[in-house]
Amino acid sequence: MNILIIGSGGREHALADKIASSTHCTGLFIAPGNAGTALLGKNISIDPIDFEAIKALVVAENIELVVVGPEAPLVAGISDFFAGDEALKSIPIIGPSAEGAQLEGSKDFAKKFMQRHGIPTASYRSFRQDNLAEALAYLHNHAMPVVLKADGLAAGKGVLICNTLEEAETELKEMLSGKFGAASATVVIEQFLKGIEFSAFALTDGNAYVQLPEAKDYKRIGEGDTGLNTGGMGAVSPVSFIDEALREKVRTRIVEPTIKGIWEEKINYKGFVFFGLILVEGEPYVIEYNCRLGDPETEVIIPRLQSDLVELLLAAWKGTLSISTINIDERSAVAIILASGGYPGTFEKGKIVKGLDHVDSSRIYHAGTTIYDGSVITTGGRVLTVTSMGSTLTRAMEKSLVNAETIQFEGKYFRRDIGKDLLNEE
Ligand code: AMP
Ligand code: GLY
Repeated sequence: MNILIIGSGGREHALADKIASSTHCTGLFIAPGNAGTALLGKNISIDPIDFEAIKALVVAENIELVVVGPEAPLVAGISDFFAGDEALKSIPIIGPSAEGAQLEGSKDFAKKFMQRHGIPTASYRSFRQDNLAEALAYLHNHAMPVVLKADGLAAGKGVLICNTLEEAETELKEMLSGKFGAASATVVIEQFLKGIEFSAFALTDGNAYVQLPEAKDYKRIGEGDTGLNTGGMGAVSPVSFIDEALREKVRTRIVEPTIKGIWEEKINYKGFVFFGLILVEGEPYVIEYNCRLGDPETEVIIPRLQSDLVELLLAAWKGTLSISTINIDERSAVAIILASGGYPGTFEKGKIVKGLDHVDSSRIYHAGTTIYDGSVITTGGRVLTVTSMGSTLTRAMEKSLVNAETIQFEGKYFRRDIGKDLLNEE
């Protein structure tokens, strides 16, 4: 079958790599894709939220399965667009309806959903500009630090952790006055949780689900988790501190009640659920939901998945995941992101990437790249992901570090400590 992947990052390259290896895949299209996906299928230059252009492509190329990578088209309603279109409604599309995508698209929606279903999360209240006085009063009685979250999508920048009341007051006023545009018209004021973060993932058909491997990502730009937040500078899977007892808590207290909630509320959800979790004194809490896979988490989860991904995706569409099983490679995967110097601030693009042919024992997933004049050049902040597998975390780390050095481009930056914090647990 002909398959279309929507998106252009390392996540989409990893999905493309896995999907291309399925015997069910006879033609692969990626919109818009990058220099890496171009080696696996046909890149089509379409904006992921231009639904009419996607429709034209699906019809013209006889696409029989669509996999949506990023959140923006899901929050904008791509699955509903398909469901409401005569020519598209029978074509399997992986990703929830706009209502389901609100689990990521609205922090307020997600918090209320968790409350309705008894899912552990930080205490909170939501406020709008018209109840600023009440919001300030709430802050005054709140312990510090406190977390302020723009309700809507704010390109990963809408969460602020404030250490003092003064800082929180200033930020709150700015957010409610449009610091993040419409995304911060509502602000969630949330209890600060102190603990270690990790992520869990499920693929659901809206009723049953299969659980994918857990992962830990490294969000800060600097080694030792310092400096500015980024989209993610690396990831590791499995996560050594997650034992069977914790996995069971995550399953029974978080994953199952979430899927049951989706089912009970009749939310049309055929796709991935990403659980951003935090472990506080041995107990898991939800920090956030995402309605898609993570990036760079996908680049360590997908290489560990031994089952045929296309079969799982079709089972999610048909509603037969209850009889699906998944096989996972026991080995460790470590992904290191190679970023453009200056990221997540301003950075230069158009640098020629060299050394890709000399990579040995790692998979390279492209993120911010394109082909220009026969060369791979940089086009984004996160440029490439170097993923390696190893019988131990140490072995996987070593391979990724060697290949992170092998690849060259002007201004290249990467963290050398991805996974290091988990080594003492090995
Ligand atoms: P989010 O966009 O909701 O994932 O938040 C971004 C980051 O802010 C998370 O990965 C956490 O590191 C941090 N964060 C969010 N909510 C909380 C919280 N309630 N307590 C502590 N840290 C938080
Ligand atoms: N790595 C975090 C995310 O994909 O949202």
